[in-house]
Amino acid sequence: MERNTSEDMATFKIAIDGPAGAGKSTIAKLAARELGIVYVDTGAMYRAIGLATIRAGINPNKDIAEVEELLPQMNIEIAHSEGGQSVFLNGEDVSVEIRLPEVSVAASDVSKIPVVRTKLLELQRNLAEKTDVIMDGRDIGTVVLPNAQLKIFLTASVEERAMRRYRELMEKGVECDFDLVKSDMEYRDKNDSEREIAPLKPAVDSVIVDTTGKNLDESVELIMQIINEARNIG
Ligand code: DC
Repeated sequence: MERNTSEDMATFKIAIDGPAGAGKSTIAKLAARELGIVYVDTGAMYRAIGLATIRAGINPNKDIAEVEELLPQMNIEIAHSEGGQSVFLNGEDVSVEIRLPEVSVAASDVSKIPVVRTKLLELQRNLAEKTDVIMDGRDIGTVVLPNAQLKIFLTASVEERAMRRYRELMEKGVECDFDLVKSDMEYRDKNDSEREIAPLKPAVDSVIVDTTGKNLDESVELIMQIINEARNIG
């Protein structure tokens, strides 16, 4: 899996991994805007595939063969706007729909299927080729961009992550129950860290940042400090 091309060397790549609700995408989006570089949210791609399985009436936790059969018909595309990203499933912009709680669980389920990971790995590496990038996910520092100059593993207690996600959903007008949000998060933590391929774990050379008890501004400031130090060295 390791690649070390001259392009890797010429560009600055930042990998941010961590469990659901740690604040990866919010922080990475802000950091990308400040640095003027591309932001890639890889979770959105797994979500698009999760959504496609829900629409097809497939249970991605059980009907693996059906997901594999349908996968070649799923065309996932990413478009970048300033500091943000839109995701398209067979030409349809699904950026809003993929944030629904049931899609989170389906995304975690499809992410255990090897052919799904292979398909998305290629797309993710292509997006990061020849450009400075900040990419977030679960296996960016360990698998997708093993040569990233900076790897951050962002985490926080499950209570706090669930509370952040609950508030985020309520603010968007998605009615939900805190205990359900928390149990979905625990399900995904277990699923994502215990799967056989590319499980969620800090890369050995990552900087571990725990944002429990920190608000967004404090977390962003800390991450920006780490990024700026790494860029000065790199
Ligand atoms: O980052 P997110 O919560 O939007 O991701 C949704 C799911 O996708 C997550 O529970 C696991 C999977 N995922 C993954 O397996 N690998 C990644 N690089 C990103 C996400």
